[in-house]
Amino acid sequence: MEKSMANKREVLLRFLAEPTDVNFGGKVHGGAVMKWIDQAGYACAVGWSGYYCVTVYVGGIRFYKPIFIGQLVEVKSTVVHTGTSSMHIAVEVSATDPRTGTQKLTTRCLIVFVAVDDGGDTVPVPRWTPETELDKRLEQYAIHMAKARKEEEAELQAIPL
Ligand SMILES: CC(C)(COP(=O)(O)OP(=O)(O)OC[C@H]1O[C@@H](n2cnc3c(N)ncnc32)[C@H](O)[C@@H]1OP(=O)(O)O)[C@@H](O)C(=O)NCCC(=O)NCCS
Repeated sequence: MEKSMANKREVLLRFLAEPTDVNFGGKVHGGAVMKWIDQAGYACAVGWSGYYCVTVYVGGIRFYKPIFIGQLVEVKSTVVHTGTSSMHIAVEVSATDPRTGTQKLTTRCLIVFVAVDDGGDTVPVPRWTPETELDKRLEQYAIHMAKARKEEEAELQAIPL
């Protein structure tokens, strides 16, 4: 039986942290975590828009706790705000010790994708309308981040290289 994933707001990836993900300190590499975040965000953006999507921004990333090899990793991506062609997606990474079942939040970030057509031109995406108080707060956070980004970019552009 087939199930429609169209306009699905959330994607959850679940897998084990593998020995190949290790860094020099014996924990999961930050780069591996960022790759998982991008993958979960991408799947969420494509599912929401129905188009191929490209990353235009990754920010607000915080690594709270390390992930150890053999832990069960969950990467949850959620659409929290939409513009014309952009989708602002909150991503949370958590790790569970399979022996004890203890879960900890390890990483959070906000990632922005843009939907593009086969020619690489931007295309409009369906609008996300927040309903719950939590959804409204998440959207406000994404809007606040967009404003801060504009100010940051203006400051950077003003620096001659
Ligand atoms: C995506 C791309 C085609 C958009 O082209 P563009 O000329 O910037 O188009 P626009 O200025 O109309 O921006 C499109 C949307 O992206 C958003 N955007 C562009 N740059 C952004 C940035 N740095 N941060 C956040 N949002 C950004 C705009 O706000 C706009 O949102 P909206 O449609 O909801 O209003 C172009 O920026 C691009 O190709 N970027 C490189 C993407 C890439 O290679 N990613 C890495 C690999 S996937």
